[in-house]
Amino acid sequence: MSAPLPTTEGDQELLRFLTCGSVDDGKSTLIGRLLHDSKLIFEDQHAALERDSAVSGTVEDGLDLALLVDGLQAEREQGITIDVAYRFFATEKRKFIAVDAPGHEQYTRNMATGASGVDLAVILVDARKGVLTQTRRHARICALMGVDQVILAVNKIDLTGYDQTVFDVITAEFMTLAKELAFASVTAIPLSALKGDNVLERGAEMAWYEGPTFLQALEAAPVGGSASDAPFRMPVQWVNRPNLDFRGFSGTIASGVARIGDAVAIAPSATASAIKEIHSQTGPVAAARSGEAVTLVLEDEVDVSRGDVIGAAGTPVAVTDQVAAHLIWLDEAELPPGRPYIMKIGTATVGASVTEIKHAVNVDTQEHVAAKTLGLNEIGFCNLAMDQPVAYAPYETDKTLGGFILIDRISNATVAAGVIAFGLRRASNLTWQDLDIDKRSRARLKDQKPCVLWFTGLSGSGKSTIANLIEKRLHALGKHTYLLDGDNVRHGLNKDLGFTDVDRVENIRRVAETAKLFVDSGTITLVSFISPFRSERRLARELLEEGEFLEVFVDTPLAECEARDPKGLYRKARAGAIKNFTGIDSPYEPPEGAELHLQTVDLTPEQASDAVIARLREEGFI
Ligand code: ADX
Repeated sequence: MSAPLPTTEGDQELLRFLTCGSVDDGKSTLIGRLLHDSKLIFEDQHAALERDSAVSGTVEDGLDLALLVDGLQAEREQGITIDVAYRFFATEKRKFIAVDAPGHEQYTRNMATGASGVDLAVILVDARKGVLTQTRRHARICALMGVDQVILAVNKIDLTGYDQTVFDVITAEFMTLAKELAFASVTAIPLSALKGDNVLERGAEMAWYEGPTFLQALEAAPVGGSASDAPFRMPVQWVNRPNLDFRGFSGTIASGVARIGDAVAIAPSATASAIKEIHSQTGPVAAARSGEAVTLVLEDEVDVSRGDVIGAAGTPVAVTDQVAAHLIWLDEAELPPGRPYIMKIGTATVGASVTEIKHAVNVDTQEHVAAKTLGLNEIGFCNLAMDQPVAYAPYETDKTLGGFILIDRISNATVAAGVIAFGLRRASNLTWQDLDIDKRSRARLKDQKPCVLWFTGLSGSGKSTIANLIEKRLHALGKHTYLLDGDNVRHGLNKDLGFTDVDRVENIRRVAETAKLFVDSGTITLVSFISPFRSERRLARELLEEGEFLEVFVDTPLAECEARDPKGLYRKARAGAIKNFTGIDSPYEPPEGAELHLQTVDLTPEQASDAVIARLREEGFI
């Protein structure tokens, strides 16, 4: 679910660890101390550090070790770490990659990204503050991402006078949490990153502590077993076709070993073939293992594209279009179930939406709580539906095919990270019932071509007035119509929904599905809903066939709607009696490519409806 981590060269063991903690816990100072004291800083870095400390160091005298780790300019200015950074260093015993995850609340996303694929997490706690909500959240994310070894670094112990009781209380509290999260091992270490106590050298003031130093713990931690004993899997990154004679499939082997002659199955299509050639960076090879980037040539002319997964034939890759997953919501706006997003899973990109939130998790108590949505950084257990079958695996068994992110289709922002718990029933269990009378035969009988006229605009913009006029005129012409109006549908089908963003998304999703059914019945369907979000209007458009959806933007400026105020709602909204009112304290996203743009200030409702009727004639609907 993130860019592949750099891999080790040579035979020395490599430990990847993630550092997480709250702002000011001293995370960067700890890693800086480790690099500095173990003399692993290169000379040029040291010189740069002295320069930087003089400029922006936050330590009275001496080097600010945090500057060693906080690589980005913006971090230095803000005093917080804002992105995932990888540091390489080595001792005589082993090599390390320190993944530095941010500590600021809004950057949970980077932590979740950083946590994927590490062997161990260092969770920092400020000895004076103890276990915080943030600590619990970070521990939970680590557990979720499959990190099962933890070093609990109880930092700033010097500021408590090296108090053993403080350390014991914090450790006990964390252990209760660790047990619930089922970490395989937790090593708690009292230390002072600033003074260096128990980082490399034992702290002179902590005779009571008999455990390992921080570096000893890092050197002793078992390194995750190589994934090469798992079945062979390679998500296809691209189809390599330099000329007509060569067609190979390139990617990084996620697990297992590929050998020439091995039988393979390609997911999701379930096509069978066998490996004919393996090309590595150094040339043709007979076999390649997990972590290696290769190009495979198969025996048969099979149809393989980016996002497909080539796997061992004996243990084929599972395929589904619905999963149950743990989701970390990373967007400022709440999760709206039903909204379509882009899902990136392995190397595949598909459409997906959250269909149900089973429960959210209270990170302080670990309790499951009922939830209709998830807020920023909240974690929940959800069902998701994809718009096509994809290759997947439970995250527990395969991190590459079990992790995914959701991306907003309009802003391109990553809004969630998730790990798959299990697949849900396959689409193949649910088939389409063939009906003898179809849309075309129904439409023929009605002597019309069905479509959706989707009216969007502010409350009071005139949508319903114009839609009503158009329906009357179509009716007079002998056309079969139906008008779905927001106020009316909210009395029945959607009476359980209010006006939060989350409810509006569901409101429009339901009416879009309903409109699709009406069109299928051969009816010219008028939909008059504020429908304030581009995402859901696009969803409605995509549910219909090409050309069947006509978006009609009833464009009336807010001031004009407010002046008209046909239902007196603007007055109430301004007085604070109605919350989340569109245009006042709830957003309206105007259409960008509407088929019809009605500027009602210059048009009477009759003129507006003339324009729409003319368009229906032009396009052959009536
Ligand atoms: S939508 O945003 O979810 O598409 P919809 O069209 O169904 O809204 O309902 C809008 C109608 O509900 C408005 O015309 C108005 O009569 C009424 N209404 C009540 N409260 C609100 C509100 N907070 N915001 C907008 N409309 C509201």
